[in-house]
Amino acid sequence: MIHKNIIYAYSVLLLLVLSCSTPKSSVNVSNTDPTSKRVDSILSLMTLEEKVGQLNQYNGFWEITGPVPKEGQAAKKYDDLKKGLVGSMLNVKGVSDVKALQKIAVEQTRLGIPLLFGFDVVHGYKTISPIPLAEAASWDLKAIQKSAEIAAEEAAAVGINWTFAPMVDISRDARWGRVMEGAGEDPYLGALIAKARVQGFQGNLSNKNIIACAKHFAGYGFAESGRDYNTVVVSDDVLHNVILPPFKASVDAGVKTFMNSFNDLNGIPATGSSFLQRDILKKSWNFKGFVVSDWGSINEMIAHGYAQDSKQAAEIAINAGSDMDMESYAYIDHLKSLVVSGVVDVSVIDDAVRRVLRVKFELGLFENPYKYCNEAIEKETVGKTEFHEGVLDMAKKSIVLLKNDKQLLPLKKSGQKIALIGALAADKTSPLGSWRIGADDNTAISVVEGMNKYPNNEVTYSKGADVAIGRTQFMWETKINTTDTSGFAEAIATAKKADVVVMVLGEHGLQSGEGRSRAELGLPGVQQELLEAVYKVNPNIVLILTNGRPLAIPWAAEHIPAILETWHLGTQSGHAIAQVLYGDYNPSGKLPMTFPRNVGQLPLYYNYKNTGRPSANEPESVFWSHYIDEKNTPLFAFGHGLSYSKFEYSELKVSKASFSKGETIQVQVELKNNSTVEGKEVVQLYIRDVVGSFTRPVKELKGFEMVELKPFESKVITFTIDQEMLAFYTANKTWEAEPGTFKVFVGGSSDQLLETEIVLK
Ligand code: NOJ
Repeated sequence: MIHKNIIYAYSVLLLLVLSCSTPKSSVNVSNTDPTSKRVDSILSLMTLEEKVGQLNQYNGFWEITGPVPKEGQAAKKYDDLKKGLVGSMLNVKGVSDVKALQKIAVEQTRLGIPLLFGFDVVHGYKTISPIPLAEAASWDLKAIQKSAEIAAEEAAAVGINWTFAPMVDISRDARWGRVMEGAGEDPYLGALIAKARVQGFQGNLSNKNIIACAKHFAGYGFAESGRDYNTVVVSDDVLHNVILPPFKASVDAGVKTFMNSFNDLNGIPATGSSFLQRDILKKSWNFKGFVVSDWGSINEMIAHGYAQDSKQAAEIAINAGSDMDMESYAYIDHLKSLVVSGVVDVSVIDDAVRRVLRVKFELGLFENPYKYCNEAIEKETVGKTEFHEGVLDMAKKSIVLLKNDKQLLPLKKSGQKIALIGALAADKTSPLGSWRIGADDNTAISVVEGMNKYPNNEVTYSKGADVAIGRTQFMWETKINTTDTSGFAEAIATAKKADVVVMVLGEHGLQSGEGRSRAELGLPGVQQELLEAVYKVNPNIVLILTNGRPLAIPWAAEHIPAILETWHLGTQSGHAIAQVLYGDYNPSGKLPMTFPRNVGQLPLYYNYKNTGRPSANEPESVFWSHYIDEKNTPLFAFGHGLSYSKFEYSELKVSKASFSKGETIQVQVELKNNSTVEGKEVVQLYIRDVVGSFTRPVKELKGFEMVELKPFESKVITFTIDQEMLAFYTANKTWEAEPGTFKVFVGGSSDQLLETEIVLK
């Protein structure tokens, strides 16, 4: 039911549109479309305080449906809600809680403007998908979109109407714990995945969809030394050619909101950056949605040394285009007086409020504020079988076969003695990964459970070593691994008797994510010792890696015959892993991020610059770009991933050697499945711009295609190269293709490519 005040607002709409001078907008949000008119009609009814209220977001509080607190922060929040001084809440979930708060906003405030309910639905709400980095390894945009659709539908059913996802930060440093939350290191793949995720979450904004939020704008993934929240210094070239493309793709896909970031970028905190939020996002990209700050990031400008106090921080942030304040209390405390004293122009506030109201209108909340508040839907939707099938499918597609010497995989389905070792093999919480705050502990299928579905082998489980993680407080508090090796003897004894050893090692799901940067990228705790001890008695090991970031595991890569990268695969993890282990699913994942040999190589990425000294000019020379104690090459390259099929590339051809503006060139390659196993391969196209006004990377991903081939089948794959593909942000500050020679590479991994050349005239 629409509240009486809103009805009133509509009834005066026409009159207002005709009689009020249109409020000044400092930005280019069109105010002639029907939504703008509705927005303006509401805006004209609002007091300054109510306007500020729309820009204020509060974190949820406990016992929302219980007695109203009399004092403290929760009491103030209730009070502010009733006065119409809150535009959005975060971390409120469940129809009954959402409804209770929405009721206050709609029925008890003067204007009855509905609230937005934000939540970090990052890879599922309760039915959990693989972590986003894992999903990116599928290179399967349809599957990724489907995964976001499932997450949206389940979250929508519990009252949430806004997810703080996708995180579209490109990162080249595996030490940064939040790489688990993104799509990896490549801007092209990252942009396509950003689009798929935005479309998956938002769809057509039905009651099964929720609005998305592209974050963190911008540069957050380039935190110096991979240490979370650290300062970011990047060139114009890297900003425009690497960091911004997935954000731009999100805008083009119609994302409704952006979140700014904690970091400073080239000396200016992103939250206070007019250059990012106004010049690029709102002016150049014509973004019509709104920007929410990150948690407390407005006030963090004080610690950054960019604002003297919260009042100045509020002034800087609002003027810079940061529209909504998440938990800094800076806007609610200071914006009104900043406007009254003339420090902030009211047109700036109006623009921000318009943006927030527009999104609420587009989401349909004015028509039905309880659009997401249906108990029956909640009951029948959460944990639906269909969701479990969906996340299982996504999980299988996310697995990457890193190594398979001696064809150890797939495992035989019967007659085998298998030693299954590692605490993570039995863990039912870790596979949920980081950022799954709606899910319950112990709800993932473990590897032990998954393997039990194949009863004709004798599987003996032994923990070996603990990966002790105590979840003592919300999701944040983690105890790092013990040094206890007392379980080694039992694991070694089981391994000795086994035909094959399956070891599940890596990081616990809470060892990556926000605030979980690592300085070491080996197997945490005593797991490396355990691996080596088991190897001594039985080298027939399949290593199942479970981790939220690339790891540096050179010993394992050299000695262990089979390695499966399984990340944190979500609720259906164990089933997905078992199906791949036994060959019921043929793995097709490809790494979206480089695995280093050594932490000292970081940042390490495939699209690096050649430098002036890419190789030694004499055999013994030290004066070239290298380490004296480590190779330059990665352990596993971007794009790498094997299959139980054997794919062979040949016959790379171009339709012509050169082309001019407006023309295209066809690139063809022949792909053969030279095996008895049907499989899928991601055929990758890379291009190198040999000479540019900015130095150009040695190669850049520019296209890919997922190809399915039957045993011994061949196919010719064609890519079309146009000028757009060759364009980049040039030293002239334009997006254009510069004429000259381009190398063209096609293959199954960024380090295994056939090569040819074309010329743009
Ligand atoms: C801080 C994180 O940086 C951001 O990604 C998240 O959405 C907010 N907290 C809200 O939980």
